[in-house]
Amino acid sequence: MTSDKSKQPARPEARIRGTGSYLPPRVLTNRDLEKMVDTSDQWITERTGIKERRIAEDGVTSSDLGAEAAQIAIAAARIPPDKIDLIITATVTPDMTFPSTACLIGNKIGAKGVPAFDIAAACTGYVYSLVIAKHFIQSGLHKNILVVATDKLSAITDWTDRNTCVLFGDGAGAALISAEGDGPRIGEYYMRSDGSLGDLIVLPAGGSARPTTHQTVDEKLHFIKMNGRETFKYAVGAMTDSIESLTKLGGLTVGDIKYIVPHQANMRIISAVARKLGIPDEKIHINLDKYGNMSAATSAIGLDETVREKELARGDRVMMVAFGSGFTWGSLILEW
Ligand code: ACO
Repeated sequence: MTSDKSKQPARPEARIRGTGSYLPPRVLTNRDLEKMVDTSDQWITERTGIKERRIAEDGVTSSDLGAEAAQIAIAAARIPPDKIDLIITATVTPDMTFPSTACLIGNKIGAKGVPAFDIAAACTGYVYSLVIAKHFIQSGLHKNILVVATDKLSAITDWTDRNTCVLFGDGAGAALISAEGDGPRIGEYYMRSDGSLGDLIVLPAGGSARPTTHQTVDEKLHFIKMNGRETFKYAVGAMTDSIESLTKLGGLTVGDIKYIVPHQANMRIISAVARKLGIPDEKIHINLDKYGNMSAATSAIGLDETVREKELARGDRVMMVAFGSGFTWGSLILEW
């Protein structure tokens, strides 16, 4: 039997039709943190690059933040909610363990009945979600997919631990991925994980390993625990690997990439990766000075800002690169 590939219908391309982001209005500055823990604006700025972050009010949930970002992405895409046929949400701070935050966002934006699920890949969650959306679009079975990355990290931050509380913030970003119309194409990607390093950034209790008890609460096991120094080393290696491997896969050099939108945990991680690969500062989109680390939402908001603020023309390439708990890491290329 022979196959004639020319007779097979071309697979649809996955294109980003619209993006959006939402940051809660309350700003928490480094100076504010000086009053809460033994730290200083100078230490935080020099060791991380963060100057301030946004904190959602009590009662505001990850699905609330995500729904706000989703509405903006939907408006930008000019695709009504009843045309959305899949919702994917990346979060490590779901409103609750179940139902999924994706289901709750679907309800809030008037996209009831649509299949919806969360994915857990921590800070790499937006990159993973865009890859999933690409393949659902290319299956030919889905036409308009809403991808949301939302996190209220303030809800799982120990505000008495100076090692972690200076790093995180709250926010959400979203994109509408479509099989039709214009917009950057989701191109080649690279994804990895290593569960043997899972205990370096972890929320230890509340799951099946350590169900919630008075003891887990007393021991503060419902807050982020992180070995910052070790994480730092792996983050530099994994982000470098993500950029090098993907450029190789795509037959490109970093010179072929117009902008890089990295996950932003620490400015020193980004600078170390840029130095290793010879990437000039002006190619890297930075927002951690304003927002800190918002897990998967960091990349989603970074992409939205890039789409809205940068001059991008046909043929330009933007690379997203991320790293997070799991460990997970990965990258993808968007082609204008
Ligand atoms: N203010 C003042 N001093 C501090 C603070 C603070 N906020 N935090 C720590 N210190 C002190 C430490 O106690 C230590 O003091 P000591 O020497 O007396 O013991 C000293 O500063 C140095 O501590 P280190 O942990 O070695 O500091 P480092 O330079 O490594 O910076 C940091 C810490 C910012 C956490 C860094 O290691 C980092 O960014 N790591 C990576 C984080 C990351 O990538 N996270 C990934 C994603 S998170 C997610 O997936 C949800």
